[in-house]
Amino acid sequence: MSENLYHKLQVLESEEHPLDRTSRLTAIQGPLLDWYRKHARILPWREEPSPYRVWISEIMLQQTRVEAVKPYFARFVEALPDAEALAAVPDDRLLKLWEGLGYYSRAKNLKKAAGILVNEYGGRLPDTKEELLSLPGIGNYTAGAIASIAYGKPEPAVDGNVLRVLARLLACRDDISGQAVKRRFESDLSAVMPKEDCGAFNQGLIEIGALLCIPGGEPRCGECPLRSLCLAARNGLTGEIPFKAPKKPRRIEERTILLIEAGDRIALRKRPEKGLLASMYEFPGLEGKYSQEEALAAAEALFCSEGENIRSAASAPDAVHIFSHVEWHMTGYRLEADRIPACFLAVPRREISKKYALPSAFDRYIKFINGKS
Ligand code: ADE
Repeated sequence: MSENLYHKLQVLESEEHPLDRTSRLTAIQGPLLDWYRKHARILPWREEPSPYRVWISEIMLQQTRVEAVKPYFARFVEALPDAEALAAVPDDRLLKLWEGLGYYSRAKNLKKAAGILVNEYGGRLPDTKEELLSLPGIGNYTAGAIASIAYGKPEPAVDGNVLRVLARLLACRDDISGQAVKRRFESDLSAVMPKEDCGAFNQGLIEIGALLCIPGGEPRCGECPLRSLCLAARNGLTGEIPFKAPKKPRRIEERTILLIEAGDRIALRKRPEKGLLASMYEFPGLEGKYSQEEALAAAEALFCSEGENIRSAASAPDAVHIFSHVEWHMTGYRLEADRIPACFLAVPRREISKKYALPSAFDRYIKFINGKS
């Protein structure tokens, strides 16, 4: 939009003549793009925004902070630089590259989608929102982000940051955790996307949400290029908006973690192929909270065959791990055996972190067995 139109819209706005929704959103284009050009963070996926790199980064950035994603992104695109490499990677290697990022179905969907890209699209990501949406793991936000950032298409990309910025800009008090507000904002933005720089427009909104219009604490309205257009800032509503309906409390699961050791080896097993932390490795465990004696007896009864036994038990730390819908409250024991029971993998201690993808739920126990208590 020309500078002139922006100034006209700003001048037009007065108490008697507030801007309508579309004009307010149209008016953000100029200041948003100017600000983004000056203040955008230098991020690896922005330096070289190929469709593949944008896709990988956007999937990693779902539910995960930018700083946490950076080293994972660098390792991932180095190890698997294109869809062919991703489609062919063994599952264990893929999970190892993803280890610690959480929400592991994201990695599995990436591999599935890469297979489709290789078979149906010559190894390249398609450039239409509809085709992108047909790929596993790609929803409205990610399709819009790839289409706009990598292909310059005028598609909106509404993530949690953008929801917060727009809810404040428009003083929208509706619950932003539901799908209705998201759909409305997507449709609002579709009508006002710029003809050029669509990726910068979407990333500008994301960036303002991440750096200025922050979720906890005071937003930095004094530095915000949209301040003069923002209805929440003008009316002192940034503490109340955005509104999120309270979430259902997480289910608490008690678990007993067994660190079964024989000399330098320790027992690991692979989790089932479906469900939470599917196909990852873990220390054997029992559902529920066991005492030391109960844990020893249960381990012998459940895991030891003829000729195998567990000699002694000692306590190991307790730990809590929080997933999106569940909390694991873990009680740990160290069990000593002559041999690791045959139903488990007997893994040399130093290979555990190097070779096997263990979810970060077990970080406390890895530290413990490595003597870092
Ligand atoms: N969060 C989600 N997408 C992002 C992007 N492209 N840049 C920075 N943060 C993001």
